[in-house]
Amino acid sequence: MRQAIKGVVLAGGTGSRLFPLTKVTNKHLLPVGHKPMIYYPVEKLIGCGIQEILIVTGTEHMGAVVNLLGSGHEFDCHFTYKVQDQAGGIAQALALAENFASGCPVCVILGDNIFEESIAPQCESYLAQDGGARVLLKRVPDPQRYGVAEVSGSRIVSIVEKPAAPKSDLAVTGIYFYDADVFSIIRTLRPSGRGELEITDVNNAYIARETLTWGELPGWWTDAGTFESMAHANQLVAETGTRA
Ligand code: G1P
Repeated sequence: MRQAIKGVVLAGGTGSRLFPLTKVTNKHLLPVGHKPMIYYPVEKLIGCGIQEILIVTGTEHMGAVVNLLGSGHEFDCHFTYKVQDQAGGIAQALALAENFASGCPVCVILGDNIFEESIAPQCESYLAQDGGARVLLKRVPDPQRYGVAEVSGSRIVSIVEKPAAPKSDLAVTGIYFYDADVFSIIRTLRPSGRGELEITDVNNAYIARETLTWGELPGWWTDAGTFESMAHANQLVAETGTRA
């Protein structure tokens, strides 16, 4: 039987770039199109056939997140919730998923990543590979805002977080597939210059093991973590919608 894969939505952080909206609510509850932002990653996971979904969020607006999403009954999935009580980075938030994953692979989506197409084909490709990890890349005009991958054919040579002089225009999107080794990798990390456990360091650890694959994300992709990018996400959703 195919190995079960579980879903993780990382919806923590302070949302400081969307202040004062985020003074009273979680960034991921703000509207994009006709829905709260967090619906988009949840629907993408469900579109992969994933039914067990962990939501990681901060302490401040946890109640509002649970009020909105509930048990998962309305979405035909099961939600589990975990609190990240310090803003220590994406990899620190992901570490909280270890018990939830209980040895299964996970598809992780950053809660502010909004994108057009289904990732079900990418999920299938990941499950067909022998463990390891898979990242989805997207060509962007402003790679210095993201983790940037240098690739050579089907191989990723390196990923650099927010490089001043990017070696390519391939941004690492906030959509990741990991096997259960990710948790032991996270335990080896040290905080970066910005004081966070970086997901880019996790991905570079998989590169060192030669077990990181990549795919190109089709359709449009944006984050929605600033006023500008949130307006852009609203515009893209209004123009073309998204497919789960
Ligand atoms: C994070 C990751 C970065 C990735 C981006 C995608 O950046 O660190 O590698 O390209 O998400 O949205 P952050 O949102 O923390 O600046």
